[in-house]
Amino acid sequence: MDNPNRQAVDSGIMNNTKDEKKNKLPIPPLLEDKNPEEGKAEFDLNVQYGKKEFIEGQETETLGYNGDYLGPIIRVDKGDDVKINVANTLDEPTTVHWHGLEVPGEMDGGPHQVVDPKSSWQPYFTIDQPAATLWYHPHLLHKTGEQVYKGLAGLFYIEDEKSKELNIPKEHGVNDIPLVVQDKRFTQDGQIPYELGMRDVMDGFKGDTVLVNGAIAPELDVKSEVVRLRLLNGSNARAYDFNFSDNLAFYQIASDGGFLENSIEMHEVSLAPAERAEILVDFSDYNTGDKVVLRDGSYEVMTITITEESDSSSSIPEELVDIVQYDRDDVVTTRDFVMSGMGPMVDINGKQMDMDRIDEYLNLNELEEWVVTNESAGMGMMSGETPHPLHVHGVQFQVIERNGGEPPLNEQGWKDTVMVESGEEVRLLVKFKQKGLFMYHCHILEHEDAGMMGQFLVE
Ligand code: C2O
Ligand code: CU
Ligand code: CU
Repeated sequence: MDNPNRQAVDSGIMNNTKDEKKNKLPIPPLLEDKNPEEGKAEFDLNVQYGKKEFIEGQETETLGYNGDYLGPIIRVDKGDDVKINVANTLDEPTTVHWHGLEVPGEMDGGPHQVVDPKSSWQPYFTIDQPAATLWYHPHLLHKTGEQVYKGLAGLFYIEDEKSKELNIPKEHGVNDIPLVVQDKRFTQDGQIPYELGMRDVMDGFKGDTVLVNGAIAPELDVKSEVVRLRLLNGSNARAYDFNFSDNLAFYQIASDGGFLENSIEMHEVSLAPAERAEILVDFSDYNTGDKVVLRDGSYEVMTITITEESDSSSSIPEELVDIVQYDRDDVVTTRDFVMSGMGPMVDINGKQMDMDRIDEYLNLNELEEWVVTNESAGMGMMSGETPHPLHVHGVQFQVIERNGGEPPLNEQGWKDTVMVESGEEVRLLVKFKQKGLFMYHCHILEHEDAGMMGQFLVE
């Protein structure tokens, strides 16, 4: 919405007369769990080259997990012992990072857990956090932006007692819909080369065409009932302001790290790169044939068509889960994270990423307050404003203050990524339950790759 170069794509959204031509929303499959034992799960993930027809008649070179583009959904239960067999079939190294998972540093898949070409990696961990919509993606030093952009990203669902017992839609692909939203810039012949121009170096790589689950302006058919949309902003740099064409109200039920305490009525939800939101949309007052468009600002992202009456009388639950709020009085250490600089010079606390330097030392299970500021304000001649979404590995944190005030309701749940606009100050309460070496960084991938990242050791 902030890119003047972006044009509406010719998707036939408004004149979908030929039904057989429908550009159906692809639904990423749930990855098969190879371990039949209760409480255990094992998955195979192959990192591979692919070819995909995003645009009719044009074959695009891509990357994918177990397929041509994006990856399957890994779904586990809280308490599961999980093992993943990652095979890198590429000619280049990669890593697989579990974004939002609270696992030990050596299982995190950050820049130190390199999977060399034609080799494999077997991380294993126990799921010890509430139900959530997380994701996985590469994290190779200086290469994350390119590998994610080419298609390496997938969702990671955690389910628990609560998520199973809540009265919310749970049928994968039917009324529980994963939505991986990304933007691309296609060349004349339909390729997606990752070549950074001046503007991309400054603000991050933004495309002019938005894809959902790898499809341009797709169509989703639903029944006239409550539908759950699991939104992931899987873009390199673009932030979205999601809303619906007729200003339809919806209800956010989960943030990055799990369910909120109460569902929140909203008309727009903003997601910075890497952020997630689960929302419930009530289509029960709609008639068969009605259409609603999911938009980013006024840009049309996806069309939802009500194709069937529903006999179920679903409703929106008001109360969801209890979140134990950290007590600020228990804070042992306060740390400052100042994000500044511009373009290739972006840094945190005046430093750029060094694999051999540990920036912060933390104690396990000790509550900390992190004061995150963005001082990139006004420095950009090109951009003026430089937002930085800060992401912290190995933990879900609580946002307690935004610019001296209470954070918005939908930030009052578990978060692993928080948007910090130019000139803003955000305060987090954070407690690490896993040991090891982890990263914090800006999730604009071009900033991360330029070195806007630091390391901390939890002991
Ligand atoms: Cu989504 Cu450091 O990662
Ligand atoms: Cu992460
Ligand atoms: Cu940034």
